[in-house]
Amino acid sequence: MNKNFYITTPIYYPSGKPHMGHAYSSIIADIFARFKRIEGFNVLFLTGTDEHGQKIQKEALKNHKDPKQFCDEISETFRSLTKTLNLTNNDFIRTTESRHFKSVNEIWNRLIKSGDIYLDKYSGWYSVSDEAYYDEDEIEEKNGKKISKVSGSPVEWVEEESYFFKLSECQKKLLDHYKNNKDFILPISRRNEVISFVEKGLKDLSISRTSFSWGIPVPGNKKHVIYVWLDALTNYLSAINFPDTNDEKYKSFWPADVHIIGKDILRFHAIYWPAFLIAAKLPLPKRIYGHGWILSDAKKMSKSLGNILDPIKIIKEYGIDQLRYYLTKEVSLGNDGSISMENLKNCINNDLANNYGNLCQRVFSFIKKNCNNKIPKKNKLNESDIKLIENIKNNLPKLIDYINNQNLNEYIKMVVNFSFEANKYFNDSEPWALKTKNPERMNDILYTISEQIKNISILLNPIIPVSTKKVLNTINLSDNDISIDNIKKDNIFDYNLELKNLDILFKKIENDN
Ligand code: ME8
Ligand code: MG
Repeated sequence: MNKNFYITTPIYYPSGKPHMGHAYSSIIADIFARFKRIEGFNVLFLTGTDEHGQKIQKEALKNHKDPKQFCDEISETFRSLTKTLNLTNNDFIRTTESRHFKSVNEIWNRLIKSGDIYLDKYSGWYSVSDEAYYDEDEIEEKNGKKISKVSGSPVEWVEEESYFFKLSECQKKLLDHYKNNKDFILPISRRNEVISFVEKGLKDLSISRTSFSWGIPVPGNKKHVIYVWLDALTNYLSAINFPDTNDEKYKSFWPADVHIIGKDILRFHAIYWPAFLIAAKLPLPKRIYGHGWILSDAKKMSKSLGNILDPIKIIKEYGIDQLRYYLTKEVSLGNDGSISMENLKNCINNDLANNYGNLCQRVFSFIKKNCNNKIPKKNKLNESDIKLIENIKNNLPKLIDYINNQNLNEYIKMVVNFSFEANKYFNDSEPWALKTKNPERMNDILYTISEQIKNISILLNPIIPVSTKKVLNTINLSDNDISIDNIKKDNIFDYNLELKNLDILFKKIENDN
């Protein structure tokens, strides 16, 4: 069985500071990466910045900076965000790096060799903020301005010499691929959207620009720079040492298991990217997952709309685990979801503090008072103990399946329910009434509930890594013990060790109105 797993986020434009939308994609991808690691996979998790093209050149000029210097500065804020978000990315790629130039050049040369590129003239609509070409029927007029119906961004008329990629010849191959690989594009709604777009027919794609210079020059024709999307998409290969297809990293990790993206860039990933790869005679990624948008005031959060929630501010005030948990639990991954500070606070209080946090705190303080601060060994578990413990183990295949299908909302729902049931079990079994009457039974209850805390903490670890590590550390388990295998095993506690102290896990948020 192949135990390698390659997952990516989009590489973000360093045209402005990172915002909650960027944080969202990265956190989601990190959760999958972390889960696959504790499942025993060798994971490569890649993120980075997309630094070429007209949009960046314009933004740099506006800031009176040289584009490279401009990118150096803003890219750094994205890199530092990976730390703030507690991401476990193994690499951070920038498209201005030489390893990337090499790989884009090779892709270009392969497309030339296969006869898929020709020189002509482009005339049509272009959106600089999307770095995308739009057809006449995708344009509308609003307040006297031409905008794209697809994204709402302004478009301008462009006429220039350009190299074209024979995308029109890819229709059948793409449709066949979608048909034969039902989960190539997920969720299903996105898949249908792509299929109906491709069924309408594809035009050849302009893949070079001549009206500005900030990009990778076309090999053999320095008048042109390579279209930023052909450049950007190739990052997924550059990071694994392509063009050296004999390299261990390339061999282990290509094709990628999943590209996590937002639905705004679905067309590029689900149509252009596989078309380029087919032409370059390279295997296609296994999955493109296009999540929905984070909305604020029911609108997509974006720089141009000015409705940005700053992840860094929120993390400073409430904590990173709190934000990660909220985005996982309360936003439906496949659909658009509104977020608000009010909901965030409620989620911290009701879910984290009252459910999982409370479970750990009350059990540990009970053990401290009544069992010399050590997890008791089991004597003779009864049916309800066994049922509780087995319930998590029996559901493991289902949980793994949820993750493998990016069904994060079902995953967290199930795990939160385990925590709810564990709290209920503790209440209903009333160990406090058994201290003198039946200490053996009391010990069994405490063993059972400790087992639950261990397993729930492992399952929540990819989502709230800081807090779950604290909890597991309290019961003397180390980072190495955090594995799905250790859910299958019981009796992994060291019964001779005292529990460590656990500070308050999740502070309740006072409502200020
Ligand atoms: O498109 N809600 O970069 P970008 C959810 N450089 N996710 C959001 C979001 C929101 N409101 N806003 C942004 C680019 N995102 C290209 C990508 S990849 C080869 C090149 C996330 O800075 C989401 O993942 O505009 C979206 O697809 C991505 O940021 C776009 O980031
Ligand atoms: Mg964008």
